[in-house]
Amino acid sequence: MAAVLGIGIATIDIINDVDHYPHEDEELRALSQQRCRGGNAANTLAVLGQLGHRGQWCGVLTNDGDGQFVRDELAACGIGCDHARQLAHGRMPTSYITRNRANGSRTIVHYRELPELDYACFAAIDLAAFDWLHAEGRNIDDTRRMLQRAAARRPQLPRSVEIEKPRPGIAALFPLADLLLFSRHYAQATGERDGAAFLARMHEQLPGIDLVCGWGEHGAYAIDRDGRGHFQPACPPPQVVDTLGAGDTFNAAIIDGRLRGLALPQALAHGCRLAGQKCGVPGLRLPSTVEARA
Ligand code: ADP
Ligand code: FRU
Repeated sequence: MAAVLGIGIATIDIINDVDHYPHEDEELRALSQQRCRGGNAANTLAVLGQLGHRGQWCGVLTNDGDGQFVRDELAACGIGCDHARQLAHGRMPTSYITRNRANGSRTIVHYRELPELDYACFAAIDLAAFDWLHAEGRNIDDTRRMLQRAAARRPQLPRSVEIEKPRPGIAALFPLADLLLFSRHYAQATGERDGAAFLARMHEQLPGIDLVCGWGEHGAYAIDRDGRGHFQPACPPPQVVDTLGAGDTFNAAIIDGRLRGLALPQALAHGCRLAGQKCGVPGLRLPSTVEARA
C-alpha cells in the first residue's frame, strides 16, 4: 500500500442520464439524475483507493454545504483532505453532465468560480509522508513551483502530471515530471492525428521521461524514458455504459502499476484493462479491482 498525494480539483457532478443525446433546443426528460463528487485528481485517488492505496487530496474547498458534501464523499472513499484549503468565498466547481445510456458518452459543461490551489498551501505539506505525487496540469505557475519544490526536497518521490487540456505555458511542467499522462484531446490540439507520432515528437524534447497517451476506445500509447514505443488496444466491456472518469481510472491504474514495479508496457495494459472495466459500469466503483490488479 502506498501513500499518494493528489493535487487538482474536486467537483460537484450533476449527471443526467438520457436515452439519446439531445439536439440543440430539444426538451428532453432525464431517465435519472445523480449528484456526485468528481474531479480528475479526486477520481484518480478514488480508484487508487480501490487498488489498496491511501490517498490525500489537496485542492480548494468552499466552507458551505457543497464543500462539506465533497469532503464527506472523499472521506467515504477513504481519501483524506488534511491539506485542502477551505475558502469562505467562491463556489464549488460544478459539472453538468449529460450521460447517454445508448453509448455511454458523457458531455460535460463545467462551471468554476473558485481560486486554484496556491503554492503556499502545497509548500506546507510534509512530502516525506508520501510515495507518489500526482498533479493535474492546471494553474501552471503555481503547479510548476510545486513540482520544482518536490523535485528539490524529495527527488526520489515520483511525480506524475496529467496533461489534459492545452493551457498557456503548460509545457513548463513537462520536464518536471517523471511520468506525463497526456490526453488524446491534448495530442490532437497540437495538430497530431496519431498518438504514436505525438509521443515520438514529445520524446525528442523530453528524453528520460515516461510518456503515456490514452486514445479513447482505441486504447493507449506509451514511450518509455529510453525511447521504446508501445501500444495497447482498448479492452472493451460487453457494453459501454459510462465513459465518465475513464481517463481518471486509466491514470490511476498506470500509477498503481508503476508503484508496484510494473514495466511501462505492463502498466499500460493494466490501465486499458481497468479503464475498459470502468466503461462497462456506471460510476467509479470497479467490479473487481482485485482481479483487475492481477
Ligand atoms: P477521458 O476522455 O476520460 O480522459 P480517454 O477517452 O482517453 O479518457 O480514455 C482513457 C482510456 O480509457 C483509454 O486509453 C481506454 O483504455 C479506455 N477507454 C475509453 N473509452 C473506452 C471504450 N469505449 N471502450 C473501452 N475502453 C475505453
Ligand atoms: C471526469 C471529471 C468529472 C469532472 C470533470 C472535470 O474526468 O473529473 O468528474 O466533473 O471531469 O473536468
